[in-house]
This record gives sequence, structure tokens and C-alpha cells, in this order.
Amino acid sequence: MQERLQQLKQAALSRLSEVTDMQQLQELRVKYLGKKGELTEILRGMGSLSAEERPVVGQLVNEVRSALESAIADKQASLEQAALEARLASEALDVTLPGRPLPAGTMHPLARIIEQTEDIFIGLGFEVAEGPEVETDLFNFEMLNLPKNHPARDMQDSFYITEEILLRTQTSPVQARTMLDKGGKTPIKIICPGKVYRRDDDDATHSHQFMQIEGLVVDKGVRMSDLKGTLLTFARQMFGENQQIRLRPSFFPFTEPSVEVDIQCIFCGGKGCRTCKQTGWIEILGAGMVHPRVLEMGGYDPKEVSGFAFGMGVERIAMLKYGIEDIRHFYTNDVRFLRQFNRV
Ligand code: PHE
Repeated sequence: MQERLQQLKQAALSRLSEVTDMQQLQELRVKYLGKKGELTEILRGMGSLSAEERPVVGQLVNEVRSALESAIADKQASLEQAALEARLASEALDVTLPGRPLPAGTMHPLARIIEQTEDIFIGLGFEVAEGPEVETDLFNFEMLNLPKNHPARDMQDSFYITEEILLRTQTSPVQARTMLDKGGKTPIKIICPGKVYRRDDDDATHSHQFMQIEGLVVDKGVRMSDLKGTLLTFARQMFGENQQIRLRPSFFPFTEPSVEVDIQCIFCGGKGCRTCKQTGWIEILGAGMVHPRVLEMGGYDPKEVSGFAFGMGVERIAMLKYGIEDIRHFYTNDVRFLRQFNRV
């Protein structure tokens, strides 16, 4: 019987070494250690043993059982480990693979210029205001010191909807609207970006619809030097810290005195080139001290307060800054053009 036990142990261990999966292992366990397994069968035959033999054989049976149990447990652990490794290998992620880029839109160059301009002026304590694009003759012209039949109305060929309603030709009506809204309170410090419309034939430098940014400051003791300092700060932040500006006398009905403002040509650095027509300077905006009549109509006493205003073309700033030669690029939306303005 002892021999049978040894044989059984050897046979079980050698079969165990051939087991390759959990199912085979389970079958093997049942075959040798199960209720109807071979070891149990041997135990049953112990009744026929003598009293001396019984404990010896009994001990041997226990040894064989525990040897098989631990061998099976070891095998199970190694099968589980192998299964885990196989799963990890098959599910492995290569985290070093570069990701697939998601196509992201770009920011329109005009929107960028407006945003940058807003940031510059917000930094100087201005607020951003808005006004309607469909405007009344009153706000677009009369409140800005351009009565009906004023010859300066010819400077801005207009799209009239009715006799009294038109598409605004400039953002300056927001000056008048803001003054009335403020009801005589000071200070006013606003910029107003927005679309404007003029009856121009579209070409490389004209568009019947374009964008302006208007600025208005009204307070006690506002001087021309405040206007100059503000515009110099803007020019330096927008076009580079060494920028210079130049004011030239000009005319706008709503400012007195009025100026046109130039920056040093950004293409030749002021030496003179084709773009600046050899002058070294490029015009970027119109400005001036708010006309006393405009202050009065807006509900302010020109003896108490003064102000300055300026208005610039966004396309012009963008064309200079990015070296764009044709204003129509902003509105034809060719993706090859737009893609150059990525989000940095
Ligand atoms: N509104 C003027 C224009 O469109 C620009 C301007 C604004 C000039 C404010 C002076 C003050 O030409």
C-alpha cells in the first residue's frame, strides 16, 4: 500500500508538470484529491490493514495529500501569474506614442487686434462700450456736430435705410450715446469696437463694411497731452516699445483741434520706403479734443469738463501689423489665409 501511495504521488506530480491551464488543474485535483479521488480510495482500503500498519500508512497518506495540495497550489499560483502577465502584455498601452492632434480653429486677425486693443486700453482704465450698427441720423451725424447739409457728411458716403435711419458710418455715435447715458457724470473712459458701413467700392484698401475702434475720455482738466500720451502707449504696446507717434493737424467736425496720428513706418523703421511713400510715417488714426458743441449736446458743460476722442480702423492696424496687402482677405475667409493666425 505504501508503494501504491508513492506511485500515486509520482504519477500525480508528473501529470501536474504537464498541466497548462486552470481546467486541467481542476480535473487533476478532482482525480487525486476529490471525494471519489484516488487518494480517498486508498484511505478506504485502510480498514484491511493491521493495527501497526495503520498509523504509518495514515501518516503517509497525509504527507502525500499535503505534498499534492501544495504542489497544486503552487501550480495554480504560477498559472495565475502567467495569465496576468499575458493580459498585461496584450493590453499594454504605448504612452510614448504622440497623440493625434484635434483640429482647432484659429482666431480671426480682426478679432485678435480688437482683443489686443481692448486689453491695452483696459490696462489704462478704460471700459468697453457698444452701440447699434443701425443708427439714427441724429446720433451718427447731428449729435456729432454734423447738421444736415454739412459738407463734411460727404466724407462718409452712407447707406440710408430711411431719411432718418442709416447704417452707422463710424463708431463715433457711441460717444454721444455714452455721454447721454452717463447723464453728466465724470469720468468717461471708454473704447467702442464695432462694424461700420460706407458706400465705397471694394478694392484692395476699401471695403463697404469695416471695423473701427472709437475711444472717448471726458473729465475735468483733460488735455491734449493726455491724448498724446494715451496714443503713444497704445502705439508702443501694439507695434513695439520703441515706437514714436506724430500728430498732424486735421479736421473732424466733432473734435477741435483735430489731428491725424502717424506711427513710424514699421516696414523701414522710419528711413523711408514705398509703403510710407518715403515719408517714414504711416497714418493709423484720427483724433482730437472733443468739440465744445458735442460736449454740450451730450449734457456736459464745456467750461467744466473737457475730453479727447479717437477713432481707428481695425483693418488698417491689422494690415500694418501682419503685413496684409489687401483688405478683402479679411472678408473672403480663405482658410489658407485664416490658418496663418494660429492661437498663440
Ligand atoms: N470717426 C472718425 C472717422 O471715421 C475718426 C475719429 C474718431 C476722429 C474720433 C476723431 C475722433 O474718420
